[in-house]
Amino acid sequence: MLTVALPKGRIAEETLEIFAEVFGTDFAFSGRELIMEKAGFRFLNVRNQDVPTYVEHGAADIGVVGLDVITEKELDIVRLLDMRLGRCKVAIGIKNDEEIDWSRPHIKVATKMVNITRNYFASKAVGVEIVKLYGSIELAPLVGLADAIVDIVETGTTMRENGLKVAEEIMDSSAHLIANKNSFYAKKKEILALYKLLEEVVERRG
Ligand code: PRP
Repeated sequence: MLTVALPKGRIAEETLEIFAEVFGTDFAFSGRELIMEKAGFRFLNVRNQDVPTYVEHGAADIGVVGLDVITEKELDIVRLLDMRLGRCKVAIGIKNDEEIDWSRPHIKVATKMVNITRNYFASKAVGVEIVKLYGSIELAPLVGLADAIVDIVETGTTMRENGLKVAEEIMDSSAHLIANKNSFYAKKKEILALYKLLEEVVERRG
């Protein structure tokens, strides 16, 4: 039996659609249930940010989580497959009528992705003061809390509706299948067999 941590919401639903295509049966959490067992799998319904925790601790053998989260948390896991779901970008956002002034001694940036931000500005050799927020990041430059933001851009609607624009793209992200390192060795055959089946469907879907 493989335990699979899925991030509540659209990514979980779309991942379960892929499982349905592979195994020819429906997979769905009913009501508020957090565990679903079917076809030799145990699925866990967890918050997006918590998927890595379940996988790193081995409470789940595998999981599905965004590359942005994998990068931000510098996870010690095995990265198996790009599921090509939940595609988005991590980008620097700034007010429409402004540009990033790279010559400034330091730039004040609001974000929930502290490590990605620190590494990106370090790669540019620019000092950065990071203001850690937990959501509604786009608000920060509008009220003078920060000069810019680093955040997820999917459709671009949130930035647009708040008078912000993408100043620079930092990375592309999409949901990836990951595995706990010990599970990957202990259950290698099972995990690789599943990986192959999922990969076929993911390739076919494009
Ligand atoms: C994310 C992200 C942006 C928004 C981007 O926020 O932080 O705010 O989605 O999507 P868009 O480009 O399609 O508008 P989320 O909805 O996860 O909520 P949060 O503000 O709590 O982070």
